[in-house]
Amino acid sequence: MKIGFIGFGNMAQALADGLLLKKAVRPEEIYVCAKHWEKLAANAAVRGVNPCRTAAEAAEKSDMVVAAVKPYLVSEVLEPIKGILRDRIVVSVAAGMPYDSYEEILAPGTHHISTVPNTPVSIGEGIIVCEQKNSLTEEEYSRFEELFSRIAVVVAVQTSQLGVAGNLSGCGPAFAAMFIEALSDGAVKHGLPRELSYRLASQMMAGTGKMQQALGTHPGAMKDAVCSPGGLTIKGVAALERGGFRGAVISAMDAVEGD
Ligand SMILES: NC(=O)c1ccc[n+]([C@@H]2O[C@H](COP(=O)([O-])OP(=O)(O)OC[C@H]3O[C@@H](n4cnc5c(N)ncnc54)[C@H](OP(=O)(O)O)[C@@H]3O)[C@@H](O)[C@H]2O)c1
Repeated sequence: MKIGFIGFGNMAQALADGLLLKKAVRPEEIYVCAKHWEKLAANAAVRGVNPCRTAAEAAEKSDMVVAAVKPYLVSEVLEPIKGILRDRIVVSVAAGMPYDSYEEILAPGTHHISTVPNTPVSIGEGIIVCEQKNSLTEEEYSRFEELFSRIAVVVAVQTSQLGVAGNLSGCGPAFAAMFIEALSDGAVKHGLPRELSYRLASQMMAGTGKMQQALGTHPGAMKDAVCSPGGLTIKGVAALERGGFRGAVISAMDAVEGD
C-alpha cells in the first residue's frame, strides 16, 4: 500500500511515524506534500519518505491518500486534484469534516472515509475514530482497518458521535498529561525526584488503562478495589472529590463540546 499525505504537519507526521515504527509500510512507500518545500524536505529526509512538489504528485503516486491539512483548507487543496482522488482511497483526518462535507468536495463516486486520530498513533498506541458512514468497499475498509490497527484502536461510530469521540481521544491526552504532571507535583512536594515521579505516574496511567481494557472492570470498581476502609487511598479519593475532580473533568468535556 502506497500512502500519500496531503499536508505533512503534526498529525500526518504522527501517523507516518507510527506506521514506520510498526513497519506497517516502508519509508519509500510514503509520499508527502505540504506548503513550504524546505520544511517538508527536512521532515521527509529524517524519515526517508518521498517529498513531493505538489498535492497532485503525492496523490498520483499513492493508493491511499490521507487529507491532513487544516479543515478550512481541505476544499481548496483537494478540489484541484479530485480527478486523481476518484481512483484512490481518501482518508480524512480533518476534524469536523464528516462524510457529507467530502461528498460536496470530491468527485461523485470517490471512495472516502472521515476519521479523527489522536497523537499517540506516533508510538503505535493511538485511537482512530472513524465514521461508519463511508464509501469504501468492504475490501477497502478491511485494508484501511488492517493498516491503521497497527498503530491504533480503530473504532467506527455514527456521524453524530464522531465529534465527541474524536474530542475524547484527541483532547484526552492533554487532560491525562495534566493529571500526570499534577500527580508528579504532589509526589515531588513530598520528596520524590521529578524524573522518577513522571516515570511512575505515566506507567500508572498506562497500566490502569491497560488493566481496564484487559479485564473490562467498571472504573468505579477499580477504584473501590484499592480503597481499603480507613486507608490512605480513600483519603486521597475524598480529597479529589472535595476539589471537584470528576466535575472538573466533565466540565472540560462540556467546554470542548461547546456547552
Ligand atoms: N494535531 C492533532 O492532534 C489533530 C488531531 C486530530 C485531527 N487533526 C487534524 O489534522 C489536520 C492537520 O492538523 P495538524 O495539527 O497536523 O496541522 P499542521 O501541523 O498545521 O499541519 C498542516 C499541514 O498542512 C500543510 N498545508 C498547508 N497548506 C497546504 C497546501 N495548500 N497544500 C498542501 N499542504 C498544505 C502544512 O504545510 P506547511 O507546514 O508547509 O505550512 C502542514 O504540513 C487538521 O485538519 C486537524 O483537524 C489534528
